[in-house]
Amino acid sequence: MERPIALVTGAQQGIGRGIAEVLHDRGFHVVIVDLNPAAVAEAANAVDGTGKALDVSDFAAVQSGVEAVEREVGPIHVLVNNAGINRDRMLHRMSEEEWDEVVAVDLKGPFNLMRHVVPRMRERKAGRIINISSASWQGNVGQANYAAAKAGVIGLTKTAARELARYNITVNAVCPGFIDTPMTQKMPPEAYQRMLDKIPMGRIGTPLDVGRVVAFLASDDAAYVTGDVINVGGGMVL
Ligand code: NAI
Repeated sequence: MERPIALVTGAQQGIGRGIAEVLHDRGFHVVIVDLNPAAVAEAANAVDGTGKALDVSDFAAVQSGVEAVEREVGPIHVLVNNAGINRDRMLHRMSEEEWDEVVAVDLKGPFNLMRHVVPRMRERKAGRIINISSASWQGNVGQANYAAAKAGVIGLTKTAARELARYNITVNAVCPGFIDTPMTQKMPPEAYQRMLDKIPMGRIGTPLDVGRVVAFLASDDAAYVTGDVINVGGGMVL
């Protein structure tokens, strides 16, 4: 049987790459979407998949990218919206640009992908959508832009789940806690330690910890789960 297709955004590194590896191991043909063409090609090669370099915040680029994937690779069965950025700063000092950039990638990005993939999933009456939000969606000092975008992702997820249930499409969100990736490796050491201290399980998470939960939501075992939010944070509460 041909491998079903899973498209993962932001998958050239970090959590997205971990998700791509687990989905590949579980029998999916993975389409890696990210910004850097060389890194995308390398990551796609590593999972024997397909690479597509594009900016998820660009509505038109996402439209033509999704069309090209469906034409050249096949029907997208699983969509994982993982691409995300942060531009942390206290609200009273945050620039308009820092707000706009984060909302464009972290909130509009998932909308753009869903807007172009969902009509095709509806026609086929099959699909799985997993949106990567964050533990920060409930509020976190210095992350007004990021928390607002990630809370928006939960609203988007729960609304799409209600609209699409009758088409046999499930839509869920995963909230990673504190995960070892290039995003968190950039943090100042004191802030890094403060986050570690909040984790009851006493260790930072790995991209594979997140990937395995995403793979569960993409699997037949999760066929009756939709509109839900799963934390993957070792018990962390911000
Ligand atoms: P990362 O910075 O290591 O990787 C993010 C990837 O997204 C990068 O490869 C980047 O090139 C890509 N990307 C950024 N903007 C893009 C755009 N406009 N179009 C296409 N791709 C773009 O970050 P990490 O840690 O792997 O994060 C992945 C997701 O998990 C993000 O949505 C992040 O907000 C979320 N998250 C991460 C946590 C952590 O502790 N690392 C905790 C909670 C959520």
